[in-house]
Amino acid sequence: MKKKVTKIGVLTSGGDAPGMNACIRAVVRTGIYYGMDVYGIMRGYTGMVENDIFQMESRSVANIIQRGGTILKTSRCKDFFTSEGRKKAYDNLTKLGINGLVIIGGDGSFRGAQTFSNEYDIPCVGLPGTIDKDIAGTDFTIGFDTAVNTAVEAIDKIRDTADAHDRLFIIEVMGRDAGYIALHSGIATGAENILIPERKTDIEEVIKQLAEKERRHKLVNIIVVAEGDEFGGADEIAKIIKARLPMQDVRVCILGHIQRGGSPTCFDRLIASRMGYSAVECLMEGKFNVFVGMVNNRMYFTPLNEAVKKKQRISEEWMKIVRILAS
Ligand code: F6P
Repeated sequence: MKKKVTKIGVLTSGGDAPGMNACIRAVVRTGIYYGMDVYGIMRGYTGMVENDIFQMESRSVANIIQRGGTILKTSRCKDFFTSEGRKKAYDNLTKLGINGLVIIGGDGSFRGAQTFSNEYDIPCVGLPGTIDKDIAGTDFTIGFDTAVNTAVEAIDKIRDTADAHDRLFIIEVMGRDAGYIALHSGIATGAENILIPERKTDIEEVIKQLAEKERRHKLVNIIVVAEGDEFGGADEIAKIIKARLPMQDVRVCILGHIQRGGSPTCFDRLIASRMGYSAVECLMEGKFNVFVGMVNNRMYFTPLNEAVKKKQRISEEWMKIVRILAS
């Protein structure tokens, strides 16, 4: 017989993502609806270790659905990856009687939740909050849609000036280990090339294509690069291209953390609300130590133990689309 969850803690962990606030709001209000006490844990696992925890009410989450960032703040907590840190966290939670956790974050945060739930009898439910969309078991992650739309808006603007000056722009988007922002924003803006960490880039081929375009006087080109690509980002690619094609007027633009901020799109607010609601239902129904994703517009549950082992895979078909449409 599984224990009844009556007091839950909610936290955001890892890189922030637009829509985290909408998700916190959903967790708090659903928890209260079902008669639970809901606690906010500040700065991710750090708040658990340092006992920075406070009780939330329905009003605590008023007027946040449209705000980027996270009202609970976030961190990447090293202490939680030690057994002493997790013991402290457990003691702090039990003092307050918290007997269920909702963790909004990326794969690193899920790894923490998985270890904690294997060691202690506090069930955890993970929700995918990351702009990177690099988690298997969900079609989308909270924040990805907003980040991609931010990148698209910026790249469209860059294309205007690239076009006016006949320039080659190398635009770096976020994604240390994941190319989804690059892939989606690159296809959506008609980028001539997209370089991502998940695929080897044939740089000779890229140079050959650019040289061929130069011959045809097609000098306006956009290359979208994920920050974690094999060459080390846009600056490095620019160096290689400048050395090989000195006639090209090359400029670099690194979009950076602008992609992490801003008001979440309608899509991100919706998935954040649905996932937040569903996480509380999981804790109510005894569906413990899972991560809640969405597949084909339905909630999809993956045991945390499995979730941390898999990465979302880049589809070969998408890569083919990139090649065909950029020709
Ligand atoms: O949250 C994911 C992410 O934005 C990655 O795309 C990026 O590589 C990383 O976080 C940057 O982290 P930080 O803000 O700690 O430099």
